[in-house]
Amino acid sequence: METDAEKPKPTENSNTLYRLFLVIFGLIIIFIFAAPQEFDKILKEILPPSTTDGPGFPISPKPHPKILANGYKTDDSTIFRLPNLISPIEYELTIQAFLPGFGYQADSRNMTFEGEVLIKSEVLESTNQIFLHAQELNILQVKIMGEEKAEELQEVIIHRNYIEIKLAKDLERSSKITIFVKYFAKLRNDSKGFYDTTYIDENGQPRVAVVTQMEPDSARLAVPCFDEPAYKAVWKMTIIHPIGTQSLSNNDLIDTKEYDNEFLISTFLDSPKMSSYLLAFFISDFAHIQTYTRAGIRVRVWARAEEIKNMEMALISAVKIIDKFEDDFGVAYPMTKLDMVEVKVFEAGAMENWGLVTYRDGCLGYNEKLDNLRRKRFVRIIIAHELAHQWFGNLVTMEFWTRIWLNEGFATLFELTGADVAAKMNYNERNHFLLEVQNDALRYEYLSLFQPIDLPNHPMTFELKKSDKIGTFFSGISYQKAASVLSMIRKVVGKSVFDEGLRNYLKENQYKNVVDEELYKHLQKSYDRQNNQVESLNIESFAKSWTTKTMFPVVFVKKIAEDQVALKQFVFAKQNETIQMVDMEEAWDIPIYYQRELGKTEFLWLKKDHVIIENAKFVVLNVDSDALYRVRYDDALWQIISEQLNQDDSMFSVQTKYRLVSDSTVFNQELAIVEYLKRETEKLPIIPIKKLEERWKNVVENYANDEKIHEVELDYNTIVTQCKFQNCLPIVQKFIDQMKTCGPTQQISQCSTVPAQLRELVYCVGKKYDVEFKELVEKWRLVERRASEVYYFDRIEKCSPKEYERKSAGARTKHNFEMEQYEEMMKELRYRGIH
Ligand code: BES
Ligand code: ZN
Repeated sequence: METDAEKPKPTENSNTLYRLFLVIFGLIIIFIFAAPQEFDKILKEILPPSTTDGPGFPISPKPHPKILANGYKTDDSTIFRLPNLISPIEYELTIQAFLPGFGYQADSRNMTFEGEVLIKSEVLESTNQIFLHAQELNILQVKIMGEEKAEELQEVIIHRNYIEIKLAKDLERSSKITIFVKYFAKLRNDSKGFYDTTYIDENGQPRVAVVTQMEPDSARLAVPCFDEPAYKAVWKMTIIHPIGTQSLSNNDLIDTKEYDNEFLISTFLDSPKMSSYLLAFFISDFAHIQTYTRAGIRVRVWARAEEIKNMEMALISAVKIIDKFEDDFGVAYPMTKLDMVEVKVFEAGAMENWGLVTYRDGCLGYNEKLDNLRRKRFVRIIIAHELAHQWFGNLVTMEFWTRIWLNEGFATLFELTGADVAAKMNYNERNHFLLEVQNDALRYEYLSLFQPIDLPNHPMTFELKKSDKIGTFFSGISYQKAASVLSMIRKVVGKSVFDEGLRNYLKENQYKNVVDEELYKHLQKSYDRQNNQVESLNIESFAKSWTTKTMFPVVFVKKIAEDQVALKQFVFAKQNETIQMVDMEEAWDIPIYYQRELGKTEFLWLKKDHVIIENAKFVVLNVDSDALYRVRYDDALWQIISEQLNQDDSMFSVQTKYRLVSDSTVFNQELAIVEYLKRETEKLPIIPIKKLEERWKNVVENYANDEKIHEVELDYNTIVTQCKFQNCLPIVQKFIDQMKTCGPTQQISQCSTVPAQLRELVYCVGKKYDVEFKELVEKWRLVERRASEVYYFDRIEKCSPKEYERKSAGARTKHNFEMEQYEEMMKELRYRGIH
């Protein structure tokens, strides 16, 4: 194949085997693509004639029936783990996608793709069996090449999610083989594997775009491969796509040439050595913008032509975040490019494919006039999250999905750091971490006691059974709890130890897979070095007391004498339909940061046995909300603490007060601190008592100013909450009138000049008090095309006070209006994201 000559040579010796690959691969490519009639013929026989959808081109052919060539057998069994007999070194994958609407004139191959993969592999154990993941692919041909000649195949069985290849003779341990598979499949419609993400352009015409989503176990839907994270290998990609489209993959394009009149053949630089779930490719007619990072990495953002003007913020943020992460993590981003793509159809919010990060529609674009600050923040967070994965996940990967928290926990820990950098450090990262991440962690496991089906509970490190769906473990535990536990570990070992330990963990394990013990080892090394072994701490046993069991502890604090308090840990459990604090089987190692009446922060470990603190009229635990537990103070003690809070709260940090307020609501103790709550003027624990009009003025004047972003967001959230309980028509009337000048068939996002930051509230209030406006809102919803505006409409129902969730506050039976309002406010403060 001509293009191969221009590919950089593999890092390993250009041995005969490699030359042999080129020859075989070349021959195969020539055979298939020079003679598409053969393939066409097979397809014609098995495909029904294409149907035409709309004026454009034929789309959605009926699914292919399974075809069986060469006497391969099929059976419906599945495999859970691959036997560790063969390990891939390098994949050479060629994909041809038959996408209508561009250079390719749709025929029976419309909306299908054809693939050929050569997998250069090492034999780990002598065997005559090869197992390979492949699912819902029509396998046309399988071949195994030994070091010198093709191996004789005894049997090929196509199972439901894998291929089993039996050879006539055993393969020798440590020898190299090449597995060749030729296949085709329909482009999928379920946002998995290689799938269709067709969009409608400005002129109302459908335009085909196709993209991949492999995590956690969908790579096998796009290519036969060793689809487990520990089988890291290099991917050499070649994509054949219609003229008029552009293709992207993990690494940069080497070359594009015309191919077979209607197509282009694009070859790509080798990917870094990586897991199959990170493989990505994308074909579209999208537009892009680009810039460079400090280190010269070319960063591009791709979007539909219509949306590209809104991608500036994402591009600038990505560059700042990469620069920051390169500094903090101490390992350079390993490729010369990063592409970020916003696609129409997407299952999750975003996916961290190495070098080709994909985002759901509305998760990357930001327009100051059309989008509000919540979206601006969300876009920055989601970018930072996916970019953190380029190190935590892509470079260093968990051994298996049972430790997915090593991926998602670190990405969640660093997403706010990255977002803050993008916002010139005006986000007040720590407060948001507490309000969003830590608070979610405390709620998730607590609520899972009531709703075990919606919120499956599992330890951070868990066991996977064959019947489990890996997707369910991308949970509040793997994200928010893991991030909160990591943040607690960082506090205990110290930031400098943590940062150094992580840098070594990344450096020593790059391009490898890890278990959590590897993390503790590096943290321990840094800890011992920085503390000269003086302070002893067993990081592994501390960490494991959190990672190996479900739930988090509750510390009960009891006043046992005038100047003595006792601490003991319990756990929430469901007993007789109520939630109780019960003794736990195994204790957590709880780092207790506490303040006595003198105010200084002190430290002790609380393990299985109770601890007594002397010389304390009162204690406040979990100072700065640095650890993941709740505190229940007994009534006598709570009375003293609440008096202190009500009279003079200056000895407590805003984060400590937040913890006190939050825990008190869980134990129905918050009424005691209402005096304090009314007076509180800081932003984190409770909403300040600023006047509504004043807040509104601040929002209207400053919403576009990054320097004021934190304050404006909080003011806005408070207004939204207050408007649930009082008539806010006077403050939004002017904007309602402005919007009413837009007709019912107009896209309001295009027509209205009301700033986006204010629109959601205008819809909410207007709909409630103005019948004419309500009708218009319903019509606008139907014609709106912009994702962010649709989100505003969909959130309208959140504008009225909701039935109070009795469950979430445990045994609460009665509360007054004031507290209900307060709860609503707290909930709003905690609200995150756009989903
Ligand atoms: N790796 C995930 C996406 C994913 C999750 C793929 C589950 C397959 C199964 C990605 O990094 C992620 O966590 N995305 C979040 C973003 C958010 C936390 C900012 C998402 O999609 O919600
Ligand atoms: Zn993630």
